[in-house]
Amino acid sequence: MMQLFLDTTDTAVLTDLAKTGLVDGVTTNPSLIAKSGRNMLEVIAEICGIVEGPVSAEVAAMDVDGMLAEGRKLAGIAPNVVVKLPLTKAGLIAAGEFSREGISTNVTLCFSATQALMAAKAGATYISPFIGRLDDHGFNGMDLISEIRAIYDNYGFDTEILAASIRSIGHVKEAALAGADCATIPPDVFNGLFKHPLTDKGLEQFTKDWAGTGQSIL
Ligand code: G3P
Repeated sequence: MMQLFLDTTDTAVLTDLAKTGLVDGVTTNPSLIAKSGRNMLEVIAEICGIVEGPVSAEVAAMDVDGMLAEGRKLAGIAPNVVVKLPLTKAGLIAAGEFSREGISTNVTLCFSATQALMAAKAGATYISPFIGRLDDHGFNGMDLISEIRAIYDNYGFDTEILAASIRSIGHVKEAALAGADCATIPPDVFNGLFKHPLTDKGLEQFTKDWAGTGQSIL
């Protein structure tokens, strides 16, 4: 099943959307923590109390020892924390160590298929290719999802492809068609996933016609 995550640190918005039962997890990053204006450890703990699924929390350190120390602390917040690591040599070394320790990881800032291959070999739980940012720079972000899908399937890697930097409903559709395991979606795009102007128009007509019958079901 394709999993849909919310890319947010806004706990009010998350609480509201979680009621749909369609939010499988949450991703955060340092920019979203900054946007929240809140203490990272507190926000992550609160998010983990709202959703049962995976909650990605990103390390700030650049070196392996720092990543390991921060990652272990983040993982200690709740059992559903996923340690988010940058796609650097240090990040992959840390991903390998966390894999051996049984701590889930999300390797982020992936912009190439070979980076994704390295992350899978390191034992990453999730790989996060950034679709929108590739599109911003004149590349086709969705091609990257397709390439990673083919490479992972060729070798049976079980690292999950988490389409990130999603900017539109079309991105979600294309990621699903390309076989992404998950997509992390900003709240406004998530809200748009179940909307269509023809649904609204059709419902308006049905409501009008129903009122005209004078009937009541109950
Ligand atoms: O969490 C990473 C990601 O989804 C970033 O998205 O829109 O800042 O490129 P964006």
